[in-house]
Amino acid sequence: MRVLVTGGMGYIGSHTCVQMIEAGMTPIILDNLYNSKKSVLSRIEMLTGVSPAFYEGDIRDRTFLDKVFAENKIDAVIHFAGLKAVGESVEKPLEYYDNNVHGTLVLVEAMRAAGVGSLIFSSSATVYGDPASVPIKEDFPTSATNPYGRSKLMVEECLTDIQHAYPEMSITLLRYFNPVGSHQSGLMGEDPQGIPNNLMPFISQVAVGRREFLSVFGDDYPTVDGTGVRDYIHVLDLADGHLAALTHKGSEAGLHIYNLGTGNGFSVLQMIDAFSKAAGVEVAYQVVSRRPGDIAECWADPAKAKEELHWQATRTIDDMTADTWRWQSSNPDGYPDL
Ligand code: NAD
Ligand code: UFG
Repeated sequence: MRVLVTGGMGYIGSHTCVQMIEAGMTPIILDNLYNSKKSVLSRIEMLTGVSPAFYEGDIRDRTFLDKVFAENKIDAVIHFAGLKAVGESVEKPLEYYDNNVHGTLVLVEAMRAAGVGSLIFSSSATVYGDPASVPIKEDFPTSATNPYGRSKLMVEECLTDIQHAYPEMSITLLRYFNPVGSHQSGLMGEDPQGIPNNLMPFISQVAVGRREFLSVFGDDYPTVDGTGVRDYIHVLDLADGHLAALTHKGSEAGLHIYNLGTGNGFSVLQMIDAFSKAAGVEVAYQVVSRRPGDIAECWADPAKAKEELHWQATRTIDDMTADTWRWQSSNPDGYPDL
């Protein structure tokens, strides 16, 4: 199966490409390298022995997309490309709507022109807003509290209308919970540019000595120890979820929606503790006030994906922290510049 992977040089996309190659699929990567480095390609090759086709360009460039579709017989598209920082989206809403919403529409127009009818979209648990209860099921109400989340919700709504109008299409919305971890080789991982927004990369940069301490955003939530609780999922489990979605739903017309999470919640303090054990170093932290917009707890009910995609997460918190540490300690400054 030949799959166009937009954003395939990024964190989740690169791990998914490795898993696809190992499963005998052919990824064709399209990325503008806005938030990734070209050296990712050689890491994919080191891990799999295959250097996938790579097109450097933007999903908003229709002429470029038409060329990519014309040069490759593509069976399906996995659409990771987009901007993802919640705080930045509040400062730069135009960029987020342009990249995430407009970009997706241009991509789908090009798919239709090329006769490609199968799409998997990277959505997020952020579309559930502040859920009334946990675990979260796919039929829970959706809402958004910031431009990033709204862009994901808008794309979900656009794709729902598009699938309705073109019922022969297969569109799968995958709602990720909190992706963490790295390839177990230590050769591939998350490489945020600038100050990390997310918990795991921040913890690992403190552990490796790049940052002094972690700020824990609030310890007065109604949770097990007062700190925020999330459903952390190993990036390779998440990657495998895409393969399962392609295999089981990619050629079935319809709109398909799945949570990709483990069904377990861990608090910030539990993550710090697990990481300290995996790395064998203390992670310095200070409790500060809550981060605006954060919710107390969020974890998935992953039963639908298990039943219909025959997929479930298998990797543990110890795997997530140990693999993150292997990547961070052997690549303290992330991927090299070429
Ligand atoms: P990432 O930034 O590492 O990867 C995204 C890739 O897309 C980057 O390589 C970037 O250069 C590329 N890109 C961005 N805009 C582009 C454009 N206009 N044209 C071509 N390429 C473009 O992010 P990630 O963590 O791998 O996330 C992938 C997807 O999953 C995103 O859509 C994100 O919103 C979604 N998601 C991520 C998380 C998370 O916590 N990482 C959670 C839920 C959903
Ligand atoms: N946290 C800290 N200190 C930090 C960073 C995070 O205490 O420096 C805490 C947060 O308050 C939260 C938990 O760690 O309780 C997880 O925070 P992240 O920023 O790692 O993840 P979020 O759940 O806030 O958001 C992530 C993605 C969003 C996505 C959402 C739901 O960043 O893009 O998951 O999928 F929408």
